[in-house]
Amino acid sequence: MDKISFRYLELIETITLYNKKYYVDDDPIASDAEYDSLFRELLKIEHQYPNLLLDYSPSQRVGFKPLTEFQTISHVKPMLSLSNIFNTEDLADFHEKQLKVLDSNEIEYFCEPKIDGIAVSLYYKDGLLKQALTRGDGITGENITQNIKTINCIPLKLSGSNFPDEFDIRGEVFIDLLDFKKLNHDAQRVGGKVFANPRNAAAGSLRQLDSSITASRPLKFFAHGLGHSSKSFPSSLEKVFELIQQAGIPVNPLNKLCNSIYDCEDYYKDILSKRDKLNYEIDGVVIKLNSLRHQETLGEISRSPRWATAYKFPSEEARTTLEAIEFQIGRTGTLTPVARLKPVSIGGVTVSNSTLHNFDEIKRLDPRIGDDVLVKRAGDVIPKVVKVFPAKKRQHEVVPPKICPCKLKMPVKQTHSTVWEIHNKKLKKKIKTLYSKYEAEEYFHHHNGDDLVVVNKTEALSSFKCTGGMHCPERLKGKLIHFVSRRALDIEGLGNEIIKLFVEKRLVEGFADIFLLDLHEETIKNFDGFGHKSFQNLMTAINNSKNISFERLLYGLGIDEVGEATAKALAKKFNNADELLRASYNELTRIDDIGPKVASNIMDYFEHDDQRKEFIKLIGLLNITFPNFAKDASLDGKTFVITGSFKNYGRTELQNILEQKGAKVSASVSKKTTAVLAGIKAGSKLSKAEALGITVYNEDDIASLINDA
Ligand code: IVH
Repeated sequence: MDKISFRYLELIETITLYNKKYYVDDDPIASDAEYDSLFRELLKIEHQYPNLLLDYSPSQRVGFKPLTEFQTISHVKPMLSLSNIFNTEDLADFHEKQLKVLDSNEIEYFCEPKIDGIAVSLYYKDGLLKQALTRGDGITGENITQNIKTINCIPLKLSGSNFPDEFDIRGEVFIDLLDFKKLNHDAQRVGGKVFANPRNAAAGSLRQLDSSITASRPLKFFAHGLGHSSKSFPSSLEKVFELIQQAGIPVNPLNKLCNSIYDCEDYYKDILSKRDKLNYEIDGVVIKLNSLRHQETLGEISRSPRWATAYKFPSEEARTTLEAIEFQIGRTGTLTPVARLKPVSIGGVTVSNSTLHNFDEIKRLDPRIGDDVLVKRAGDVIPKVVKVFPAKKRQHEVVPPKICPCKLKMPVKQTHSTVWEIHNKKLKKKIKTLYSKYEAEEYFHHHNGDDLVVVNKTEALSSFKCTGGMHCPERLKGKLIHFVSRRALDIEGLGNEIIKLFVEKRLVEGFADIFLLDLHEETIKNFDGFGHKSFQNLMTAINNSKNISFERLLYGLGIDEVGEATAKALAKKFNNADELLRASYNELTRIDDIGPKVASNIMDYFEHDDQRKEFIKLIGLLNITFPNFAKDASLDGKTFVITGSFKNYGRTELQNILEQKGAKVSASVSKKTTAVLAGIKAGSKLSKAEALGITVYNEDDIASLINDA
């Protein structure tokens, strides 16, 4: 082989490995710069020596010449669908049926999350991805090979050689929730098509005749079964998945072998409890016989296998009638449109209100009183209207109110917030939270002028605010509710209804008044539902809350975009309240975690006379502890490895927290590692930790690790 061909193959191999580490294992091993430079070298060779070009070159993922139509092709083995079950009795019936045929007491089931995506069949020949079909009607599907090749986590060439010469892998293509949100956000901004849900977005992306459009969509894939194969695979699903995973095909890490039907029920419950934390939508679990021989014995009936079933979760959506639209005012004074609904039960909970987010959402959905709406409820997330079915005779369009619905009846003003858009693909990968304007802005400030960064600033999202400012009683209620909430001052007996009452009776006009409520003992004791005992309890709770850390107090103030992490960073930097009040904009931006926008929010907050005075009053009333983080060496000498993604922490944030406590954070697992923090989609680092017997913490353990340490 000549030198160029050798280098060409070497480049393909290295880039393919880097891709797999990045997209499948979530465990990047190359820097962006290195990756880019290898990719450029690959493209250069392909340009200079077009006859060297190989089908499975990573350059082939960017999209191809648009098609005029999709070709229809028969599946060698039909793609079946699944029967559904809904409760424990159904599960017992399903098991009974297996028992009858199999005459075996030891039936193993292989259980998997049922992903709400699009089923596809991938044909590999001699380890190369040759063809990809949609499910279609199960007998024939459409040839979407060009589109599938753009999906980064699907291997164009399999690793190793431990697989049949020819076989079909079936699986689900989907878009995860963060990517979906971002996709719609972008589409909305440029007036493009907004998708109703991630499944539609995945389907729409796969159906593109122009594969360069598909390439721009963040599609993902998990394998869930086999089709035709030239040679028999191992004897069980568990082993099949092990093998195809080794070959580089993504397999859901939540799949599990269950030894009894009781284990299956536990699996169902476990996955149901994780449902809201997953970054992709699932609508149940799939229970399959693990033994391929058993599967064959059971066979199929009317296009669904007898050896598998979908154990569905309770529906999260329901259709009902929109009875009214009202406006709520939050702690920032912004009006949020809320849909009042004809009560409807969703997954056992009665829903009669649901959020419409903002006026951009109203423009998009155009809901009108009397229309039917589809409402979606996911766990404890506020139900939201996801679709509108217009009534035959429609009412008026919903427009923002001119006057605030609060007692002040002040005019409402429209404001525009800035949306930051990053156009550089590499950078997008780096900044996972793409729609965080703070992070975009942060990058903009640090890297502007760098040719890597192209940041666009667009005026987009509009919101409507009460011009009564701090005096708006509705806004005050919102601020107080946040101030006393669990993660801020944590005053238990001060629930939302009591706050509303105290604000309406004008006993509380700011935060500090909470600590002067004992002056109103007689008035409060006379309120309905209050007596001596409940008054005393409330006073005790309020008194206890006076011992408060600086960071919790700062978080409780509810300064725009100052969450817990920022509050912590501020508390760490300033040794007393006075130092914070005297801080300049530049001093603030020099703090890690604080970008220009947040810094100006903080400046604005304290420049506001009422707020400054209120804060000073609080300083006098409370017993504040100022942590000296610099001295915190509770994790001294320990080494951690972080893998996967976390719901409540960014990876850098976690790293900062650990490092502030004296720990080291390392990129790879070794015997010296104290523990691995494994989030969602933890990759090979987790397996390595398990193999070495190293302690593994998950997201739930992190808080106690940080606080106890
Ligand atoms: S097994 C014969 N496993 O659900 C076996 N399907 O309602 C058929 N799906 O068409 C597929 N996650 O698109 C299987 N872990 C999973 C799945 C899954 C999602 C979809 C698939 C199928 C549909 C059947």
